[in-house]
Amino acid sequence: MVRWKQVTLLGVTFTIIWLLYSQNSATKPQCSQFPKNVLKYTKTWQIQKTQHGTLQLMSAFLDDRQKSGLFSKQYPTIRILGMLDNTNPQKFYCQIWYDKEDVAVVESSHFWIWNGDWEQAETFFQPFVFSCDTPDERIPKYVSLVANKCDLATNRLTVVYEKVSTKEDFVVCVKGLNFPHDDISIRLVEWIELVTLLGATKIHFYKFSVHSNVQKVLDYYENQNRIAITPLTLVGNYSNTPDFQAKFLHEHKVERRLQEVLPFNDCLYTYLYKYKYIVSLDIDEVIVPKAGNWSDLMTYLHARNGLADSYLARNIYFFDHLVHSVGDIPGYMHILTHVTRAEEFSPEGDYVKGFHDTERVLALYNHISLWCSGWWGCENLNIGVDLAQMQHYRSDCVKELRNCEELKRRTVVDTRVWRFKQKLIPRVETALIDLYFIG
Ligand SMILES: *[C@@H]1O[C@H](CO)[C@@H](O)[C@H](O)[C@H]1NC(C)=O
Ligand SMILES: *[C@@H]1O[C@H](CO)[C@@H](O)[C@H](O)[C@H]1NC(C)=O
Repeated sequence: MVRWKQVTLLGVTFTIIWLLYSQNSATKPQCSQFPKNVLKYTKTWQIQKTQHGTLQLMSAFLDDRQKSGLFSKQYPTIRILGMLDNTNPQKFYCQIWYDKEDVAVVESSHFWIWNGDWEQAETFFQPFVFSCDTPDERIPKYVSLVANKCDLATNRLTVVYEKVSTKEDFVVCVKGLNFPHDDISIRLVEWIELVTLLGATKIHFYKFSVHSNVQKVLDYYENQNRIAITPLTLVGNYSNTPDFQAKFLHEHKVERRLQEVLPFNDCLYTYLYKYKYIVSLDIDEVIVPKAGNWSDLMTYLHARNGLADSYLARNIYFFDHLVHSVGDIPGYMHILTHVTRAEEFSPEGDYVKGFHDTERVLALYNHISLWCSGWWGCENLNIGVDLAQMQHYRSDCVKELRNCEELKRRTVVDTRVWRFKQKLIPRVETALIDLYFIG
């Protein structure tokens, strides 16, 4: 068998070709059976019990970015997004299905989408990307992840591979909405319209449970094909009744954060070939450039600093109690009527949000990219506060913050978002009328 890799040294690309005399790494054991009536799943997760722990798998994608990085691969890689209740997994195998009879079995590698320095919940499920290199040019239909080559799998994920000819710029990814009782519908409309004006042509929401008015807003935009929604259930064996779900997520902070990770990566891989940038945001956050929109900002950053895996905007609080009403702005517009902010930005790197490059990022976390194709790791660059900031609309600081009172005392008026008001006000009004929220 002939293999090759490309190595780029000092700008010159060499191709190294060698022959493999050893046994082909992809074997085709007769014992693998196509899993059919044995699948175990919940709404979100496919479940595989193994001697290394229980896998809960979300989705699988074919990643053909194999030419990036120092070494290039000959064939695409399957990425499986899953949780495992073991922080140090042993090896797994991918049973790669071309059809029912035709299988290749390949050992997987993995990366943990968390950091050893962060808060841990060691006994809980951990987020991983499991990777399996496909052995030849055929496009797989399904993949099953198992602990032993010949296991009869209880999971079978469709390998998603949807190429399009040109990429759009920005898709916004929103972690699992979990507001069973809060009617945040009007604020959500304003936020959707604002990030659209800034440059998002799609917003992908993950969703636990939401108030019925919020559901109406989501349906409205989904029907217009401006947003997409993926329902979520909790990882592990917990009740998904809305109140119990919300209680679990509220009371188990680290466990909540651990399960926020995979949806961002599901979003990254869903839009890998369709969008240039993944923008991870919560619905109380907006990245607002000092001038222009997101596209202008990225053009400027690329011209000045070149490409990076992620460009990140600094966090700045706009507190709810600092209302600034202005004649022509309807009172229900939260963002437009809150233009007083803390003077001081959160420290560099804290609570940042940004733009993640789909040509380069292999796995990301809420705030930054964690695994990238370059051998040097991920390049997370900060966007200067003279160019853009991450406006965070909250009633209070995040709990861990100590200097909150000080932040609330020293404030400045910052009306940069009013640049969008001429377009934003009528758009929000139209949506609210369509939704029968206002007369
Ligand atoms: C962003 O601004 C540029 C001009 O600066 C404009 O050409 C482009 O259409 C704008 N994008 C959006 C999404 O409004
Ligand atoms: C989940 O919990 C229920 C009740 O405790 C138990 O009967 C069931 O076997 C569990 N399921 C799994 C997949 O562990």
